[in-house]
Amino acid sequence: MKVLFVAGDPKPERWTVPIKALLPEADVHVWNPDGPAVDADYAIVWQPPAELFQRERQLKAVFNLGAGIDGLLAVPNLPADLPVVRLEDAGMSVQMAEYVLHQLLEASREMEKYREQQRQGVWKIHRPIKRSEWPVGVMGLGHIGKRVARTLADLDYQVNGWARSEHAVEGVTTWAGQDNLGEFLSATRVLVNTLPLTDETRNILDYDVFSQLQPGAVVINVGRGEHLVEEDLLKAMDDGQVARAALDVFRTEPLPAGHPFWQRPEITITPHISARTLRDATLAQITDKIRDHAHGKPISGVVDTNRGY
Ligand code: GLV
Repeated sequence: MKVLFVAGDPKPERWTVPIKALLPEADVHVWNPDGPAVDADYAIVWQPPAELFQRERQLKAVFNLGAGIDGLLAVPNLPADLPVVRLEDAGMSVQMAEYVLHQLLEASREMEKYREQQRQGVWKIHRPIKRSEWPVGVMGLGHIGKRVARTLADLDYQVNGWARSEHAVEGVTTWAGQDNLGEFLSATRVLVNTLPLTDETRNILDYDVFSQLQPGAVVINVGRGEHLVEEDLLKAMDDGQVARAALDVFRTEPLPAGHPFWQRPEITITPHISARTLRDATLAQITDKIRDHAHGKPISGVVDTNRGY
């Protein structure tokens, strides 16, 4: 069996050595932009180059080194019948839950205010948090969204969830579909985006959405930069609709120097680190699935490429 590793890691052996150890039956190759086809059976990829599917014609499945497969679906010539497999959790949802919790606490526990007081040597106690004033709304209720929602609900936050289709999450009030988005938003102050990027969700975080949130709104985007209409967020902040935002993903990454977001004290910027791909857990999951697939067994995490997630 031949496995091809296609990701822009300057040290691909960090991946290929463990792949070989976990899957001794495989010949493991690293993508060579100038090289000939290796006729791989399986490809393990992150944002692969356009030539991949032109050159490799024997692929039986392609494994994405991340949860979101928008980058892979954008690659030309992806054969319609080629199974595309996304990462399922692999240690990501717990990271996402702690990132979102951190950003929520920054706002709900007024951490910035206390940091500023420390800088000024001030000991001053503000009123305690009222959880009823911080209802959270999680958009997207896949592995990640559910874990985020449950984590916050366990901490007694009032948590709402919204997704395209019906989902039940214990302790979370859920809404489904475009028709119910307004009701979800008006019950929400802290909006957390964990949606997959699809044609339906692109630009979903716009002024109209922000203006339906409760006063003092907070926006936490851990989905994709393309979910957010950037100028609408700035306008919503200028108009007082949104008080602060924590953004981990951007339309252009790295976020360009001079981008207006850098200068906004109400925006916390992190460089796409809310949930890192953890190599050990990821490769254990992918190599197990490759072995199962090679033995004709069903595998989970196969994406519906028409739906986009
Ligand atoms: C990272 O952004 C991922 O999709 O896993």
